[in-house]
Amino acid sequence: MQRRHFLKLTAALSAAGALPLWSRSLMAASRPLLPVPSLLTPDANGQYTLTAMQGTSQWNGKAVPTWGYNGNLLGPAIRLQSGKPATVNIHNRLNEATTLHWHGLEIPGAVDGGPQASIAAGDTRQVSFTPDQPAATCWYHPHLHGKTGHQVAQGLAGLILLEDNEIGKLRLPTQWGADDVPLIFQDKQLTQDGSRIDYQLDVMRAAVGWFGDMMLTNGVQYPQQAVPRGWLRLRLLNGCNARSLDIAASDRRPLYVIASDGGLLAEPVRLESLPMLPGERFEVMIDTGDGKAFDLVTLPVGQMGMTLAPFDQPLPLVQILPLRVMASGTLPDRLATLPPLPKTEGLTSRWLQLMMDPQLDQQGMQALMQRYGDKAMGKGGHPTMPMAHDKPVVSHDQPMDHSMHGMAQPAGYDFRSGNKINGQAFNMTQPSFAVKLDETEQWTISGEGDAMLHPFHIHGTQFRILSENGKPPAPHRQGWKDMVNVDGWRSEVLVRFSYVAAAEHAYMAHCHLLEHEDTGMMLGFTVS
Ligand code: C2O
Ligand code: CU
Ligand code: CU
Repeated sequence: MQRRHFLKLTAALSAAGALPLWSRSLMAASRPLLPVPSLLTPDANGQYTLTAMQGTSQWNGKAVPTWGYNGNLLGPAIRLQSGKPATVNIHNRLNEATTLHWHGLEIPGAVDGGPQASIAAGDTRQVSFTPDQPAATCWYHPHLHGKTGHQVAQGLAGLILLEDNEIGKLRLPTQWGADDVPLIFQDKQLTQDGSRIDYQLDVMRAAVGWFGDMMLTNGVQYPQQAVPRGWLRLRLLNGCNARSLDIAASDRRPLYVIASDGGLLAEPVRLESLPMLPGERFEVMIDTGDGKAFDLVTLPVGQMGMTLAPFDQPLPLVQILPLRVMASGTLPDRLATLPPLPKTEGLTSRWLQLMMDPQLDQQGMQALMQRYGDKAMGKGGHPTMPMAHDKPVVSHDQPMDHSMHGMAQPAGYDFRSGNKINGQAFNMTQPSFAVKLDETEQWTISGEGDAMLHPFHIHGTQFRILSENGKPPAPHRQGWKDMVNVDGWRSEVLVRFSYVAAAEHAYMAHCHLLEHEDTGMMLGFTVS
């Protein structure tokens, strides 16, 4: 009976794109409804189509030019089945080249959509692959070198829902847009007159990233979403260029994290707030059984540049309004069996030293201070004025070239290659190393010596975190991940690649603070 009610509700929600009349009184007329990305269905030939195009979005009563896939902003959610081949036709109807990268999917380098897979304006590229990994919420976005930040800021991003047989056995909520709700969080900066997205890649943004004062959930400011009463499943993506978030319920009801970037955790992890790096996904379950309305909010974070109003207070992202109908999904005690971590003895190990030119660091900080004052500096303080970090003492048990940090910059300095890994800004034609297929390696990613947050991402793999900034990973970060936090210290991950990536289509490893990536903090590597 409850189930029948619920199905009716779902039908009403999706048919009308709005709520049934009886529940409308619950909703504030002034608050926009949460737009739920449509599910992309294959055409008669079983193929998917994604078209990058220009459009407009309404913000603060103005029509703002934006970009989207198959629409004005963002893109549809593409649902893939693990083990089932997928073919996607990618059309580029923009006036500039783009690429489309499948963030989180373990697929061959040739179809991964990295910076080398450029699609010229007006062109089409067809990719086919068969995902073979556990169910997960991933995402797709452009990856054109030097332009990724701009193209994502313009609106290009969408979700990938990867399903498998195992997840179907759990009775998790699966009614798309009803009790299984995707939430893409992004901040944006508009020009002063509100008529355009104000994207800049200058020395300040190259140092701290592009950030804005307008917070959007699925492209809308502080929308509302009606949900059935009971267990609500939220698929969260931090789709910001540079901003880390800290997600909580306004009444501090607990969030039960059930999945990280690469799929289900072993068991739900109860949290009061969930920090999210740009690029990260988490799935959380929330009990709405008390029928009370609440907001999801982002709490203040200490990241440099991200401490300014309105982010200096809990900022509402979306209002959740439980209806009288009951939900049918449940929160299981056990979710998945994660393989035990392999022994690290004898593994090939690599050291990736993230670094910023001192000149970029200095000029970037100066620009940030001049524009916003002290308030913008965040918890790290000025890197040239050392702060007392509660970080472990540096032990030089690994190769690290400190001379690079203090090196004077040559004349004609260009911030577009001011961010580096192991002393090199990204080189499209020169992969940095070669990895053997199906062999586990231990990678240490170090941000020692700078006060920046580096949300680090690796293509072609879902990895496990061994340590994060000198500490064991938090329980909800112990499952499959493709992002790791590097924040003034070093983090260790265990990676393994099951597909080939040749030099022409190398896999990327990079900081997912998109302006760091676009200005060089990325390397390519091959797998064979
Ligand atoms: Cu989400 Cu290489 O990117
Ligand atoms: Cu990726
Ligand atoms: Cu970075």
